[in-house]
Amino acid sequence: MKITFYGHASLGIKVDDVNILVDPFISGNPKASHIDIHTIKADYILLTHAHQDHILDVKAIAKRTNAVIVSNYEIVSHFEKLGLEGHPMNLGGSWDFEFGNVKYVNAIHTSSFPDGSYGGQPGGFVIEGEHKNIYIAGDTALTMDMKLIPLQIKLDLAILPIGDNFTMGIDDAILASDFVQCDKVLGYHFDTFGYIEIDHEEAKRKFFDKNKDLMLLEIGDSIEL
Ligand code: NI
Ligand code: MN
Repeated sequence: MKITFYGHASLGIKVDDVNILVDPFISGNPKASHIDIHTIKADYILLTHAHQDHILDVKAIAKRTNAVIVSNYEIVSHFEKLGLEGHPMNLGGSWDFEFGNVKYVNAIHTSSFPDGSYGGQPGGFVIEGEHKNIYIAGDTALTMDMKLIPLQIKLDLAILPIGDNFTMGIDDAILASDFVQCDKVLGYHFDTFGYIEIDHEEAKRKFFDKNKDLMLLEIGDSIEL
């Protein structure tokens, strides 16, 4: 499994030959100006919620790639009305896709489209693929529901928001990694806007002091699991 950070909460995940894109917000992110959305591959686009900083590039990329949009019922319906293909889910549900199993799990946040219309309940994803299991928390507060995840699955990586203000910050993300029983964390949802700028060294040190590993990727960089 290869995971590429496209900035903010945007991720590319390659499982075998399948390309999964998560929460594409790239063309509107000045820090990601070196990433060209017209060349990004996508067979599936997973969306945690409807906020603009998670869906901005969905239409352009899904139109070009014919990717299947996977999200809650309301978000998938929204994009199906635009002629795009989707697979609707809702919280607590899971489905076996060609690349592995996806469960849409609880997140504590809000979810509205840029015009203010209802974007369903926000969520995160647990993906089981190619003998590697990952948790993508989405935008969320620290929540006790995270403790449910390790009852069913052993995670290899937890992708957690760490920017604070709109989501968990560093200290809560450390607790979240305890809750999901995964000490290997990829941080996301930081630095994009003034409200969520973080001190990278301090963040890494705080994780290190708890015997945890916080990875912060440069935009465009990848890790292999
Ligand atoms: Ni949000
Ligand atoms: Mn967000």
